[in-house]
Amino acid sequence: MITGGAGFIGTNFAYHMAGKGYGLTVLDKLTYAGGKDNLEPLISSNKVRFINGDICDTAAVKSALEGVDAVVHFAAESHNTRSETDPDLFYRTNVEGTRVMLEEALTLGVEKFIHISTDEVYGSIVDGYFAEGDKLLGDSQATSAYSKSKSQADDLAMEFGKSSPVIVLRPTNNFGPWQYPEKALPRWISNIILGSKIPLWGEGLQVRDWLYAPLTAECLEFLLLKGETGNAYNVAANHSPEITNRQAAEWICEMLGVDKEEWIQYIPDPRPNHDFRYALNVDKITKLGFKPSIDPYNQFKSTVEWYVKNEAWWKKRKEEAESIYK
Ligand SMILES: NC(=O)c1ccc[n+]([C@@H]2O[C@H](COP(=O)([O-])OP(=O)(O)OC[C@H]3O[C@@H](n4cnc5c(N)ncnc54)[C@H](O)[C@@H]3O)[C@@H](O)[C@H]2O)c1
Repeated sequence: MITGGAGFIGTNFAYHMAGKGYGLTVLDKLTYAGGKDNLEPLISSNKVRFINGDICDTAAVKSALEGVDAVVHFAAESHNTRSETDPDLFYRTNVEGTRVMLEEALTLGVEKFIHISTDEVYGSIVDGYFAEGDKLLGDSQATSAYSKSKSQADDLAMEFGKSSPVIVLRPTNNFGPWQYPEKALPRWISNIILGSKIPLWGEGLQVRDWLYAPLTAECLEFLLLKGETGNAYNVAANHSPEITNRQAAEWICEMLGVDKEEWIQYIPDPRPNHDFRYALNVDKITKLGFKPSIDPYNQFKSTVEWYVKNEAWWKKRKEEAESIYK
């Protein structure tokens, strides 16, 4: 079962797993971020059994879990900016929903439960890298309602993992196809296609360890097969040199054939406590045998090409996505 399988990373994972011949159930509430259209080819070819339901609804979760042997739990409210105005929704979905999923799935005896956490549970780091053991109990390292709720959900999953087959994955910022255009990369790409500038916060020197979503999908299949339960794993690209937001925006300008000097607009950072740099140590998952194929320029290029080709997909989402920045 993939919870949140109609969202960005969940959709990438569903295509990856369907391609490998796994039988899949997707449980998704279809919030603004979920698109059943993402999965239509998989649903119509019976590769995905789709259930429209809420992870906070115990009865719906129980019934959806029938016949499921493993759960990969993505479902969440995922956008930092939105969490500033509606933190309660983030706590309900991300903490309470995760508790319901863990309790119901483990009571029914699923063989593996992978909870998708985030690098944001560690907070920002000036130099060096966070390893798995650096996460403190509670949410004191996290800085937004989103990351604090994810931090509490991470603790819950780790607690269940002491006696049940639970794994926690903490990925860095993902990018790729099907990402809702509220998020930086699809927002910038779609802005330029529509003739608007890229709004870069501050001086654009923030560092995100951009990880291509199809690689996160590969990582999750790897963990379903080889991951040791009761453990948390970091996954990241560890780019060298690191990629600042300015560099990412300049690549996008170059790939879309526009002048970066003209198309990037520097604006005061609208987010209080905006984390400056995320960086993860990936020794643990590397030792277990997972080595993603990192090629940021070409992975950015494939992503830009996807948004150019799939204009209809993001155009129907763009107005709602932009409304949160007004
Ligand atoms: N996108 C990233 O860069 C990134 C990085 C690290 C971790 N993560 C984590 O990965 C997961 C997926 O992120 P994403 O970017 O694909 O998110 P997304 O916002 O694109 O998708 C979330 C999905 O969850 C569904 N959903 C929301 N509330 C639900 C509920 N109550 N019941 C059932 N379904 C519900 C939505 O409809 C949507 O399909 C999240 O847990 C997020 O915290 C994301």
